[in-house]
Amino acid sequence: MLILSLLFYPVLANPVYKQTIRNAEYGYEGEYVLESGTGPYGDDSKKMNIKIFLETKKRLHIQIYDPTKTYYEHPDVIMQKEVTKAEPNPEYFLSFNNNGIQVTRKSSNEVIFDSSNPSRPLLFEDAMIQLATKAPQSPIVSGLFERRTRFQLPLPFNYSCVNAARGTPNDGQALYGTHPFYIDTRTNGNTHGVLFYNSFPMEIELNHNFISHRAMGGKLDFYIFLGPTPIDCVQQYTDLIGKPCLVPQWTMGFHNCRWGYKNLAEVESVVNSYLSNNMPIDAVWYDIDYLNEKRIFETDPINYPMTQMKTLIERYRTQHGIHTVTIIDPGIKIDPAYQAYNDLLKSGMYLRTPRGDAFEGKVWPGPTIFPDFSHDDINSFWLKYYRPFLQSLPVDGIWDDMNEISNFCDGYCNDTKAEPHKWEPINLNKHSCPSDLVTSKGPWLDLHNLYSNQENKATAIALKERYPGKRHFILSRSSWIGAGRTNTVWLGDNKCTWLDLYDSIAMVFASGIAGIPYVGADIGGFTGTDATAELVTRWVQLGSFTYPFYRNHGSNKITGHEWYKFGEPYTAINREFMYHRQSLTSTFYSLMHQSHIDGTPIVVPQSFVFPTDSNTYGNDKQAMLGNILLCTPVLTEGATSVAGYFPLERWYSFYTDVEDAAVSMKGKQVTVSAPLSTCPAHFKGGSIVTRQRTRALSIQKMKDSPIFVTAFMSKDNTAEGFLFVDDGVSDNDTAVSTIRYTATKNQMNVRVEKKNYATNQVVEGFKIVGLKAASIRGVTIKPETARYTFNYNAQTGTLQIGSTSGGWNVTQEMTITW
Ligand code: NOJ
Repeated sequence: MLILSLLFYPVLANPVYKQTIRNAEYGYEGEYVLESGTGPYGDDSKKMNIKIFLETKKRLHIQIYDPTKTYYEHPDVIMQKEVTKAEPNPEYFLSFNNNGIQVTRKSSNEVIFDSSNPSRPLLFEDAMIQLATKAPQSPIVSGLFERRTRFQLPLPFNYSCVNAARGTPNDGQALYGTHPFYIDTRTNGNTHGVLFYNSFPMEIELNHNFISHRAMGGKLDFYIFLGPTPIDCVQQYTDLIGKPCLVPQWTMGFHNCRWGYKNLAEVESVVNSYLSNNMPIDAVWYDIDYLNEKRIFETDPINYPMTQMKTLIERYRTQHGIHTVTIIDPGIKIDPAYQAYNDLLKSGMYLRTPRGDAFEGKVWPGPTIFPDFSHDDINSFWLKYYRPFLQSLPVDGIWDDMNEISNFCDGYCNDTKAEPHKWEPINLNKHSCPSDLVTSKGPWLDLHNLYSNQENKATAIALKERYPGKRHFILSRSSWIGAGRTNTVWLGDNKCTWLDLYDSIAMVFASGIAGIPYVGADIGGFTGTDATAELVTRWVQLGSFTYPFYRNHGSNKITGHEWYKFGEPYTAINREFMYHRQSLTSTFYSLMHQSHIDGTPIVVPQSFVFPTDSNTYGNDKQAMLGNILLCTPVLTEGATSVAGYFPLERWYSFYTDVEDAAVSMKGKQVTVSAPLSTCPAHFKGGSIVTRQRTRALSIQKMKDSPIFVTAFMSKDNTAEGFLFVDDGVSDNDTAVSTIRYTATKNQMNVRVEKKNYATNQVVEGFKIVGLKAASIRGVTIKPETARYTFNYNAQTGTLQIGSTSGGWNVTQEMTITW
């Protein structure tokens, strides 16, 4: 036996490709020629081409493909033109040793990408392509949204990447979205990013000394981003795939949703309960309950009559500033009495089986067919239904659910079996359409992952047409590379458990890395066992400080956990946190603006703010709002204290603005007190934050109220911050004013970087905290446009300046000296 296998060894040996590389105008080009061996499936390409584009100082692009194959080039994903001339002065250099490609970071001489990896051979087969890179130590890798696991991705593990509606088990495997982009932190905190740009179902294997990328087809196509900080990586990645869309300002507020509201009267009574409990509410969401027999674009004539729903939508918006979002699923009910079904069938623009007929899946309406959103003419179908829908129901946003596509059958709903594959990542057909479907642009395998992106784009066209000049708001469950340009996401069907609460933090971080900074989990949990009052309150606390998307939601299988329901002390605590959140509206919104410009995530792990402090790596129990506020949430039942890491900086209590000696300048793990009524939260020394003190029942009613600017001095006695102001809804990116604040130990400067939005909003006062002076004798503000008084508390080092004559316009430049 042994002799036999030895004899056969050459036949079974891995493929060996000989690599030849030459210089090219854009970088390098060359070939891989199969010299010996064969891959596990025996259908290897004999020759591949390679192109390496030195695109920018901090980005390069490696592409390996079989020139005899045709590839579907996804339009409108990569936002940068292919370069024809190499960047003359990149921060990396290439070498080609051991039949592989090495990319070295010039500044540290560190090899960050090396494809000469003996553990996983280069494969280019019909069934699977693979390229592995060496990693020098157990790599510190994060990203690969969307899955439930730790922020620092555990290894060794094979991470599947295929959009899948599996609920949200925390097994590390693929959930609703696919973003094959990760960041990899090496020595000195230097971090680079890697995008495996390929839409086929795939798997990324993280191992102790290598990272392997394999897909069911397509090209071995990689973009490498030099960083060197994690935030640089995300900015560079979003330079390539596009910046996140700007969402309307009201979306920064509180949203209420529930699957299971029986009728409009129940929705109204829920809204009334929030209002009568003096709890702000910014958006009402309608789940599938409002649909007529689950037929999209039609409302239930008895429980949600269209004209009454329209009246309610308009009344809420004008009277209370409450906005409305309705759900739309992609599946079209098979029902000969349903016009959308007949139309779609007639148009032929549906997902097909390999035999050419419409694929029949099963979703909420029962048997359904699905529009083929890759079809060139699909927008006409979608608009035909969206137009009258949005006329009848002037909603402010759309919730695109079930768009992975979710299918209650694992593949076909009859006895048909999808064509088997020689290799596939796990869960390929799980709760989704069979992998052998066909679209107008090619095999479903290649288009599955981007279905939701295409659907959301079609939906955005409808919203833009209905509301010209306004930003659109789309929340999608599924997503793929570049989704952030069109839509936002939430984290899907979590459960009402403490583990789900904890896991949401890492998922919010990963979504930010994927270029979708506006994200949140269903607060209180969506399904499972009913949420306890304590869990909801702790979740409200985390969400108030760290979820850009701040929504209560629950399924029809659990008791609704609306935040006024649990009696005292819970209602009072929840209310207080809703107002804490509201006071930070301008901060959340300014961070959203910044993200729209450069891609910086809104909520980040500590390691993004302190990238050289290795104690922060992998910390996914605390989260930071920008580089401003550190939240140390309670994540366990019954706890009245919580341990957190406090990097070496000054930290100021969110609740008192005073430096917290227990955690300030410690650079270590500290246990802090956290009775139910509080959630430890600290402003970072060095940040300048804008807050509003006016409390109102919606953002619309307080958004123009006076701003209070507070500078928290860093250990080096400096601070900085920014504020974006605009009308909150226009899609004109230029109609915005940007204000930058800086402070040193005896001066604060207000500089207006852009003044393209005129407003009457004022700054009512300034606070500078953490000063070390024994006393302050005088304060001068130049120019002198308002009267003011000041007060200095030497014990806390707090200088407070308040206007006595109506304040300063937010877009007024000033220098304050003390
Ligand atoms: C699945 C979604 O994830 C959930 O949020 C929604 O309530 C149900 N679909 C019903 O529409």
